Amino acid sequence: MDKNFKRTLITTALPYANGPVHIGHLAGVYVPADIYARYLRLCGRDVLLIGGSDEHGVPITIRARKEGVTPQDVVDRYHKLIKDSFEELGISFDVYSRTTSETHAETASDFFRHIYEKGGFVEKSSMQFYDEGAGRFITDRNVVGECPVCHAPGAYGDQCEKCGSSLSATELINPVSAETGNTPVLRETFHWYLPLDRWQPALEKWILDGHKEWRSNVYGQCKSWLDQGLQPRAVTRDLDWGIPVPVEGADGKVLYVWFDAPIGYISNTKELLPDSWETWWKDPETRIINFIGKDNIVFHCIIFPAMLMAYGDGYQLPDNVPSNEFLNLEGDKISTSRNWAVWLHEYLRDFPGKQDVLRYVLTANAPETKDNDFTWADFQARNNNELVAILGNFVNRAMVLTHKYFDGTVPAPGAFNEADEKMLAELRESIAALTDSIENFHFREALRQAMDIARLGNRYLQETEPWKTAKTDMDRTATVLYLAIQLCANLSIAFAPFLPFMSQKLVHMLGGDTITWAMLGCTDLVPAGARIQQPELLFDKIDDEAVQAQLKRLEDTKKANLEAAWKPAPQQADVDFDTFCRADLRIGTVLECERVPKADKLLRFLIDDGTGTPRTIVSGIAKSYPDPAALKGLQVVFIANLPPRKLRGIESQGMLLSAEDKDGRLVLASISQPVAPGAQVK
Ligand code: 2FM
Ligand code: ZN
Repeated sequence: MDKNFKRTLITTALPYANGPVHIGHLAGVYVPADIYARYLRLCGRDVLLIGGSDEHGVPITIRARKEGVTPQDVVDRYHKLIKDSFEELGISFDVYSRTTSETHAETASDFFRHIYEKGGFVEKSSMQFYDEGAGRFITDRNVVGECPVCHAPGAYGDQCEKCGSSLSATELINPVSAETGNTPVLRETFHWYLPLDRWQPALEKWILDGHKEWRSNVYGQCKSWLDQGLQPRAVTRDLDWGIPVPVEGADGKVLYVWFDAPIGYISNTKELLPDSWETWWKDPETRIINFIGKDNIVFHCIIFPAMLMAYGDGYQLPDNVPSNEFLNLEGDKISTSRNWAVWLHEYLRDFPGKQDVLRYVLTANAPETKDNDFTWADFQARNNNELVAILGNFVNRAMVLTHKYFDGTVPAPGAFNEADEKMLAELRESIAALTDSIENFHFREALRQAMDIARLGNRYLQETEPWKTAKTDMDRTATVLYLAIQLCANLSIAFAPFLPFMSQKLVHMLGGDTITWAMLGCTDLVPAGARIQQPELLFDKIDDEAVQAQLKRLEDTKKANLEAAWKPAPQQADVDFDTFCRADLRIGTVLECERVPKADKLLRFLIDDGTGTPRTIVSGIAKSYPDPAALKGLQVVFIANLPPRKLRGIESQGMLLSAEDKDGRLVLASISQPVAPGAQVK
C-alpha cells in the first residue's frame, strides 16, 4: 500500500433491511472488510469501518404490504437483527447506522439539491406502467410477463432470468403487476436523470487509465459498461417510501434507492464524526475502499463516482473496490426468497461461541476470483482438520509441554541451532507473504499463509521432539519450548484479523495484552520467566449430528419450495373415447409386496386379479412406501392389458396407477369401498 495515505475509510455495501444477512453477504463483503480493517488497525493506521442498513427500495414496501405492517416496522425489525448479529460475529464497525436516519435524509437531500442547482440533472418524460387498482406506478422489476426474446413466462420487467436478456417492462408480452396481478396501463411521468454520458471521459480516465490494478472482474465490468457508452440514469422514482425529492414540483417522487444508499456511507461517517467527517471524504490523503459484491460493481464504480464528480467540492473517489463473486450453498444459488441460505442469526444460535469457525470457513473458501460453494461437509472438515488438528493442536502441545517440563514458566533459551534458524526463516517468509496478501486484498491466500505458521509449529515440534530431549538435555528442551511459545504468540497476531475471538483468548492465555502487526516475527514476545496460563482448547470438534441437523433443514427447505412452486400439470391433448376404453383398468387386491433386491426404487407386488392365478406387477414406488408388507390387503388400480415387460429380471404383468404429490411422493390409486378383485374400472 502507498504509505502516503494518512487514513483509510473502508465502506461495506449497505444490506437491505428486508431480511437477515446470510453467509453470501458475509463472504462477499463483511468478513473481508473486517479482516482488512482489523489488519490496518493492528498496523497502527488511522482507519474507519463504515456500515449501515439500506432501508429504502421497493422490496421493503412489498414485504410490508404482505405482512400488513408499515415499511418502517420492517426496517426497524431487520436493522436490529442485522446490527446485532454483525456485532456478535465480531464485524468491527466504527459505525453501523441506517438510511432512515435524520442525518441521512439531510445528507442525501443536500446531495440531490446541490447537483440539481448546478444543473447536473436532466429532466425527461417517459411512459411507465401504472396499477390503477392499487393506485400507484410499478417499477420495471415488479412487472412480470412473457419474455419477448425466449417467450418464457414470468420474466421480470427489467430482465428475463431464463435467457438473461435485459428488458424494459413495456417490451413484456401480457404484462401484469407481480404484486397485485392487475394488468397495468401506461401513464406518462417524468424523472430526473443523471447524465452519465457527461462523465464518461472522466470515468474512463479514472478507471481505465488510473486503476488497472483493480481486480479483473471489477475492471472488466467497468470497461464493458464504458465501451457500451454510458446513458443517462433516472435517479428519482414515483413511490411513497424513500427520501422525498427535495425540489419544487416533485410531489409523490422519492430518490431512487441506489441514489440515496451510497450517500449513506457519507451520512454514517457524519453521524460518527460530526466535526471531522469531511477529512475522511475530501482530503486527498484519505484512501477510500468500497467492499461490495459483484452485483454492485456498476453502482460503486460508475454511478456513485459520477454523483461525487457531479457534486464536486473535493469529494474523493474510491481507491479500490474489492468485489467478490458469489457464494453458493450446497451447489445452489443462495436465495432469500427461497430461504436457501445459512442465516447469520441462526448460525449464531446453532453454533454458539463458534464465530471464528464461520469466519475461517468463509475466508478459506472466499469467492474472490470465481463463484464458490459452501457445504456443511467442508465446514466440518475445515474445523476438525484445520482449526482443531493444526492450529488448536499446535498451541495446545506447546503450552502443555511448557507446563509439564517448566511448570508454566517460559524457560530461558540457549543458543539457536540450525533447526531453530530454519524454522525462524520460514516464519519470516510466511509473515512477509501473509502481509503482502492482505495488502493486496487476497484474504483467502493470506489465511492459508497464517495457517502455514501453525503447520510450521507442528513440524518444528515433530522434528525437535522436546519430550525426548527432556530425558537427556533440558537446555535444548528449554530452547525448543521457548521458541514454540513465541510461535504461539506470533499466531495470536497473524490470525488476529481473521479469528479475533481466538486471537484474544490466546493472547490472554500467554499472559499478553496488546498486540501489533509490527510484533510479528519477533522472538521475544513472551519473555523468559513469564507465566503462561493453563491451556484451554481453542477449538473443538464439530460432530456429524450438528452437520446433519443443518442438512436436514436444507432438505426441508427444498421440499417446502417444491410444494410452494407446485402446480397441477397442464391438461394433456384430448383423447377419443374409444382409445381411452382400450386401456383395461381393474381392481386388484395386494397379496404380497416386497422390495426388489438391489433396486432402491422397485417393489414387487403379487396381486389377486380375480383369475385365480396371482399376477406379478413391479412398480417404481419403493421410496414412497418404506414398509411394503403393510400394503397387504389394499385394493389398487392397475392396467391389465399392457404387454408384459422385464424389470430387474422380473416379468411385470401390468402397471399400478399412482399419483405424484407436491413433494414428489407417489401415492397408489385405490378405491373408496371394497369390490371383487378383477372388477373393471370404467
Ligand atoms: O445490493 C444491496 O444489497 C444494496 N442494498 C447495496 C447497497 S450498497 C450502498 F450503495 F449502499
Ligand atoms: Zn427470455
